Amino acid sequence: MSTGHGPRPAIDFDHPPADPVPVFEQWFAEAQSLPTPNPNAMTLATVGADGQPSARVVLLRGFSREGARFFSNRRSRKGHEIAANGRVALLFHWDLLDRQVRIEGRVREAGDEESDEYFAHRPVDSRINAWASDQSEPVANRAELERRAEELAKRFEGREVPRPPHWGGYRVSLDRIEFWQGDKYRLHDRIVYTRSDDGSYRVARLCP
Ligand SMILES: Cc1cc2nc3c(=O)[nH]c(=O)nc-3n(C[C@H](O)[C@H](O)[C@H](O)COP(=O)(O)O)c2cc1C
Repeated sequence: MSTGHGPRPAIDFDHPPADPVPVFEQWFAEAQSLPTPNPNAMTLATVGADGQPSARVVLLRGFSREGARFFSNRRSRKGHEIAANGRVALLFHWDLLDRQVRIEGRVREAGDEESDEYFAHRPVDSRINAWASDQSEPVANRAELERRAEELAKRFEGREVPRPPHWGGYRVSLDRIEFWQGDKYRLHDRIVYTRSDDGSYRVARLCP
């Protein structure tokens, strides 16, 4: 076990468990118990057709063996980049725990049913604004954005706001997942899990 200054690691880095999924679940639960906003915030890195990487924060909305799920506009920059290249990376940093988790995998679109279900639980104004915002496209000014939102609010008045067809879930497969625990004087602990074709994981400790 580490002798570090941070919180006790949930894992014994010298004898890591064979399965990374419960490890992530435990670390995430611990992050969620902290007095910190958005412990589910993760940086999503995508690569465009021209090879240019880009990164932005999105919120984790579901995690399982099948992958890490988030929701977005499929006509956004990230949406276009994912359509061109499904290989992405995710990054969590929980500073109060001195922990980082890196995930690499391939993205699949979540099905209509689960996207509908998630969309239906959002506040009505968020649902309207999913229609109002052409995410990642230029807009003249704030007033224009608000005008569109008001116009759509009127259009949907008294009606259920349906999910825009270009808005939905994405799931990133857990092909590679690394757990990093900070320790004294930069002698941090790192283990990386790499998934094999049969779904089992190979695990290796890495130098910090
Ligand atoms: C804390 C936080 C959470 C966010 N969550 C999401 C999200 O879940 N989905 C999303 O599309 N954008 C989210 N955003 C906005 C994105 O970071 C980004 O600005 C937007 O998706 C457009 O990115 P793109 O132009 O690269 O497609 C979030 C931003 C922050 C700071």
